[in-house]
Amino acid sequence: MKKIILVGHRKGGVGKSNTAVNLGVAIAKEYYQGHTDRILLVDADPQGTLYRWNQRRMADTEEQEFPCNRLEGNINKQLKREIENYDFIIVDAAGRDSREMRSAMLSADLMLMPTKASHADLELLEHMAETVENARDFNEGLKVAVFINMAPTNTQAERLTAKQLLKEYPEFVLMKTVVADRKAHRDSFHHAYGVHEWKDSKAKSEISCLLKEMLSVV
Ligand SMILES: Nc1ncnc2c1ncn2[C@@H]1O[C@H](COP(=O)(O)OP(=O)(O)O)[C@@H](O)[C@H]1O
Ligand SMILES: [Mg+2]
Repeated sequence: MKKIILVGHRKGGVGKSNTAVNLGVAIAKEYYQGHTDRILLVDADPQGTLYRWNQRRMADTEEQEFPCNRLEGNINKQLKREIENYDFIIVDAAGRDSREMRSAMLSADLMLMPTKASHADLELLEHMAETVENARDFNEGLKVAVFINMAPTNTQAERLTAKQLLKEYPEFVLMKTVVADRKAHRDSFHHAYGVHEWKDSKAKSEISCLLKEMLSVV
């Protein structure tokens, strides 16, 4: 099973880079006994958050770093070439409507879109629906899954509103998994780990669920 997963959204700060590293770590831990060599991380954001996380991982931790490339421009063909050498490619795109995001959508099997549950954030999905439709002219099989990230742990209300609103977008699969706002995400990322390597079993189990659900969709 070879899969190209794009983590993308036109908005910054929704948790794309965080999701990319946590999925990478989760795949390595759950399917490859911790080995990272079958999973390529692609940083397609000029800010280089993912790339630097991986460099810190190499320098500051005992964990295996990931194969990791920084790519820019029309990355579609490079992704198609690279997937020959890996089982998974996880692409982290910039938080805007970038050339890299649109190009990666042409080769991705799945685009995963984290969103916060606020009304303002959910409204942005309308623009994304259009972008997705355009990409599907060239990549019919592109699946797009939205999940709620950074949900408050103390209330269900926001989650329910979000689920209601997301029903308006048949272009997107809404993931059942909700990833809560947990300090473990910020702390583990800061130390160049994933939540699978941290001490918060709830954060870990949410990412585990997200991964399983993602693999059932793609
Ligand atoms: N589930 C979460 N719980 C807590 N903090 C999170 C979570 N997801 C992301 N963050 C934090 O939110 C900030 C933005 O996340 P990031 O992955 O950099 O967003 P993006 O790549 O979309 O710009 C970071 O400080 C990150 O640690
Ligand atoms: Mg980012």
